[in-house]
Amino acid sequence: MLDSYATVADNYDIMIDWSARMAHERPFFERFFQEAQVWRVLDIGSATGHHSRMFAELGAKVIGLEPSQAMLMKARELTPGVNPHFVEGDFGHVPQLKRQFDLITVLGNTLAHVKDADELQQAVQAMHNALSPNGHLCIQVINYDCLLAVGSQWLPLISRQVDGKEYLFLREHRLQGVSAEFTMITLINNEVWQQQVERSSHLALTSDVLKLALKQAGFKKISLYGDYARKSFDPGKSSSLIVVARQ
Ligand SMILES: C[S@@+](CC[C@H](N)C(=O)[O-])C[C@H]1O[C@@H](n2cnc3c(N)ncnc32)[C@H](O)[C@@H]1O
Repeated sequence: MLDSYATVADNYDIMIDWSARMAHERPFFERFFQEAQVWRVLDIGSATGHHSRMFAELGAKVIGLEPSQAMLMKARELTPGVNPHFVEGDFGHVPQLKRQFDLITVLGNTLAHVKDADELQQAVQAMHNALSPNGHLCIQVINYDCLLAVGSQWLPLISRQVDGKEYLFLREHRLQGVSAEFTMITLINNEVWQQQVERSSHLALTSDVLKLALKQAGFKKISLYGDYARKSFDPGKSSSLIVVARQ
């Protein structure tokens, strides 16, 4: 399998401030664990495994599903023991896991990596089938409703200093028909400036597109939030779209 995240994996944990991100997101997930019995979690697009390890800390048996070997290698290096268990695979591998999960997470815009509407429907259907009767699906994507209105968006510049090197991360989402082109420019100053440019095509998962796909898959209770404090989703203002769906 072509590893389109091989280069990104090198710097992913430098770009993301995980302690700040987890402090912000953890209370949202803690509520799932308090309100429902969450024994088994599937974290799709688990990258270097930070969410998967958090779910394991909260008491669940966790599978992190990830297609990038470079990401998987880092996740396994950072994980003591066998929980979470990291498995190589993409959305198409969900039925092969042959398990029922109380919580399935697809975070950090991972679901937008589907090629088209058909692949979206198949992916969401597979997630529906893999949930236990009271299970929850939690999806987090960027706010594509807002991108649709403005056409292109630069995310705030991220700058880091690690081991004497300076890193700058510039990321742009640009609408192109029903897709959105994502460009990430990484500048690394190691005596001289080096640059890496990564481009990928994402499906623009607006709130309507997602709700329709979820309803067609059989989800009945669908809640939309604009942030991890569970503020209602505002298409014009919210920084992301967080969807929680139940059968
Ligand atoms: C932007 S990262 C988000 C990672 C992590 N979930 C987070 O919230 O930080 C997107 C992840 O999705 C993975 N990915 C890409 N295509 C995928 C697919 N078809 N199925 C599952 N995961 C995919 C990538 O390898 C990458 O680890």
